Parts: sequence; structure tokens; C-alpha cells
Amino acid sequence: MNKIKRTVLVTGASSGIGHAITARLLQEGHEVIGISRNFSHINPDRERFHPVAIDLSKLDSLPNELQLINKQFPEIDALICCAGRGQFGSLETFSYRQIEQLMNLNFTSQAYVARAFVPTLKQKERSNIIFIGSEAALAGSRKGTIYCASKFALRGFAQALRDESARSGLAVSIINPGMVKTGFFTELDFEPGEAPSSHLIAEDIAETVSLIFSSRAGTVIDEINLTPLNKVVQFKNQKPKN
Ligand SMILES: NC(=O)c1ccc[n+]([C@@H]2O[C@H](COP(=O)([O-])OP(=O)(O)OC[C@H]3O[C@@H](n4cnc5c(N)ncnc54)[C@H](OP(=O)(O)O)[C@@H]3O)[C@@H](O)[C@H]2O)c1
Repeated sequence: MNKIKRTVLVTGASSGIGHAITARLLQEGHEVIGISRNFSHINPDRERFHPVAIDLSKLDSLPNELQLINKQFPEIDALICCAGRGQFGSLETFSYRQIEQLMNLNFTSQAYVARAFVPTLKQKERSNIIFIGSEAALAGSRKGTIYCASKFALRGFAQALRDESARSGLAVSIINPGMVKTGFFTELDFEPGEAPSSHLIAEDIAETVSLIFSSRAGTVIDEINLTPLNKVVQFKNQKPKN
């Protein structure tokens, strides 16, 4: 187990997967800078947790806001790019603006975050960027045109950045979860099955992050796909479908 204390910037730290990752990192003694729009409903250890309220979809102001964080926390040696949301439906149900907004949040804002910190991360002896992709980054499926595209883009970006960083101490990884029981599904018309084997829990992803952090220096876990044992999609007004 690697005992090095890290200073980690986590996007999407207020809820679901990002929140579980934040809790796990704090529990392991690391320092966390969290980005989300709203932290009013959570109360983590304020000693080592630094919430920063930013709307990542506002791309015009994002570079300046990220630069301020970089200046305030030059010790940041890891990024976990987790913020995102789901929007599903046939392509013709999306407005042009909705296409732009989903790509901006799920892909472009994460590329901005990486762009802002890569120069300092590459100078560190050891640093990490972990992207939270999705099983939707592995195969396109109906009603997922834009969501899949955003996650394919993120995965391609992660692979290229990993290659680009191969002469530095920066390790780039992507975790692609299947359905995780979080608030992600609140506004959607489907959700994973109720049985424990029919969904991942956010803590499963946090454990995978911990595994990446504790891997031997000199190795990179490029990509991990993690899915529930049983794939059950439940439509909110219908019976479970295997
Ligand atoms: N749940 C799943 O089945 C699943 C599976 C594969 C991949 N993923 C991916 O995992 C990531 C996290 O999802 P989750 O399941 O944890 O969902 P979640 O519980 O809804 O969490 C989403 C997080 O993103 C933040 N966020 C959303 N819009 C934002 C914005 N404009 N600016 C800043 N932060 C924003 C939210 O914070 P605020 O609302 O406070 O801003 C929240 O912290 C997403 O990228 C998602 O695509 C999820």
C-alpha cells in the first residue's frame, strides 16, 4: 500500500461517485479540493477538504477559475475528473443547444481541467489524472448518441494524454463504470435494478481509484472497466428487463 499523502482535485465532488471518492481519499489521509456547483448538502472533514463552487459548463470563465485554484493549491498532484450528467433520447429529441451543453460538461470542461493542470503535474515526480468515463465509452447504443459521444471523446482524450505523458511522472487512467446507483438517474426514465448484483455502488469506483493510487510507482493502470454482475435496466414505469 502506498502511504504517500496526495493533494487531489476532484470534479463532481458533491454527489455520487465523486463524493464517494472524496470521502475515501479523506479517510486515507489525503487532501481534497472539490469542484461542483453546490456543496450545501454535504459536510465532510473541513480540515482537509476545500470545496470550490464552479459551474464547469461555463467554459468562458473556466480557465481563470482553474488558474486561481492552481495558484492557491500548487501542491495538487492528482486530478479526478468525474463531474458529468446523463441525458438520453433519440437524437431528434435533442435541441442543438442541448447537444452543445452535454458535450461541454461531459467532455470539454474535463479537457479544460486537464489542460490547466498538466504543465504542473508533468513537473512532479509522481502525479495522476483519473477520468471517470463510462461503459458508454466502449460501445454506442440507442438513445445515447450524445452521451456516448461525450464519453468516447473523453476516452480518446485520456488515451492520447497518457501517450503524451509517457516521458513524465504523470500517469493517466480512465475508469469506465457500468450502472452505478447514484443521483445520476434521478431525472432519467430508467435506473439500474435494485438487487445488489444489478448495480455498482459509488464506493466501488472509490476503491478502484484507491487501487490506482496504491499501484507501484513505475506502473500505469491505463483503463479499468467495471460492471455489475447482472445487467438489469429498470424502466421507471415498466417491469425489470434483463
Ligand atoms: N451513475 C452511473 O451509472 C454512471 C456510470 C458510468 C459513468 N458515470 C459518470 O460518473 C460521473 C459522476 O456521475 P454520478 O453517477 O456520481 O452522478 P451524480 O450523483 O449526479 O453526480 C454528478 C456530479 O457532477 C457535478 N456536476 C454536474 N453538473 C455540473 C456542473 N455544471 N458544474 C460542476 N459540477 C457539476 C454534480 O455537482 P453539482 O450538481 O453540485 O454541480 C455532482 O457532484 C459522470 O461523469 C457520469 O457520466 C456514471
